[in-house]
Amino acid sequence: MTEASPGSLRSLVTGVGGYLPSDIVTNTDLAKFVDTNDEWIVERTGIRQRHRAAEGEFTSDLATVAAQRALAAAGRKASEVDLIIVATTTPDLTFPSVATMVQYKIGAPVGIAFDVQAVCSGFVYAMSVADGFVARGLSKCALVIGAETMTRLMDWADRGTCVLFGDGAGAVVLEPQKGQGRTSDRGLLGFSLRADGSKKDLLFVDGGPSSTGTVGHLRMLGNQVFRHAVVNISEAIEASAAVAGVTMAEVDWFIPHQANQRILEGVAKRVGIPEEKVISTVALHANTSAASIPLALNHGIEDGRIKPGQLLLLEAMGGGLTWGACVLRL
Ligand code: UT7
Repeated sequence: MTEASPGSLRSLVTGVGGYLPSDIVTNTDLAKFVDTNDEWIVERTGIRQRHRAAEGEFTSDLATVAAQRALAAAGRKASEVDLIIVATTTPDLTFPSVATMVQYKIGAPVGIAFDVQAVCSGFVYAMSVADGFVARGLSKCALVIGAETMTRLMDWADRGTCVLFGDGAGAVVLEPQKGQGRTSDRGLLGFSLRADGSKKDLLFVDGGPSSTGTVGHLRMLGNQVFRHAVVNISEAIEASAAVAGVTMAEVDWFIPHQANQRILEGVAKRVGIPEEKVISTVALHANTSAASIPLALNHGIEDGRIKPGQLLLLEAMGGGLTWGACVLRL
């Protein structure tokens, strides 16, 4: 994305909402059936607990609550929503999309609705896709949602992965707002997206409709993903800041994908963001894939730290590999 021309539209976040299922699974709960312990999980990942969707509670249900909360925060009604994009890798069904299910469940009128599949990077990808509608005046009220039931992809005998993931959903409302073409504009200011399909075997699910005909389980070479994460994300962050025309010193809040506390800290250190500007929620809900950034954003707004007018830096990395970053002023 190039710098917007004077007077052009910006995609402004006008409301944020989150939802975590009520069932909490602690590290100690997991240690009852897999060879792990609270000390290892906390020390290596920072995770203390994760939420698990109830039987019969699906990704679209999580997404629907998050969307309704984001609409309420924005002061908008479902009847005004004309675009819904859901970032998910755990849809209720192979098709139709979760987005169309959310559209029906919230009671939104006929409009545009589809899913984006970029795994943990999904929310950053979906924001950039939505910007293509909102900042061109093609959508007046868009919902961008990250929603996942990652626990449904776990091999509960694989301690290297099953302790890392959880379920949840987060959503934002995006609306067009006239900007001045300056970095002081509120709204989405820049993003950078990356994918490298040659790294597929580092993080993937070993099933699917066209191959095995099954859902499959998540497989990950954790330490290799870890190494790629810190290096790759840092490059994408610097690229997105350059596009937005801002420096790291101007960033008020760094809202990373919540996969591992050590990755969050490693990336922040590498790009020169101080610890106190990092929003971390990984201890509370583990890795919720595409939902983690909007959940962390919602958390920071609810506890009063993140305020309108502040400059936010979002970033993520996930299966594909995919990764990316996004700079916006709230
Ligand atoms: O959102 C998508 C992106 N995903 C990520 O960002 C995840 C990236 N990777 C990571 O977060 C880390 O690599 C992990 C948390 C997955 C693993 O941490 P690590 O420091 O890289 O550990 P490791 O895989 O090198 O394993 C170290 C040891 C091994 O034992 P040995 O071989 O040294 O005897 C593992 O078997 O830790 C063992 N181990 C465990 N021990 C207790 C692995 N998982 C567990 C466990 N409990 N749950």
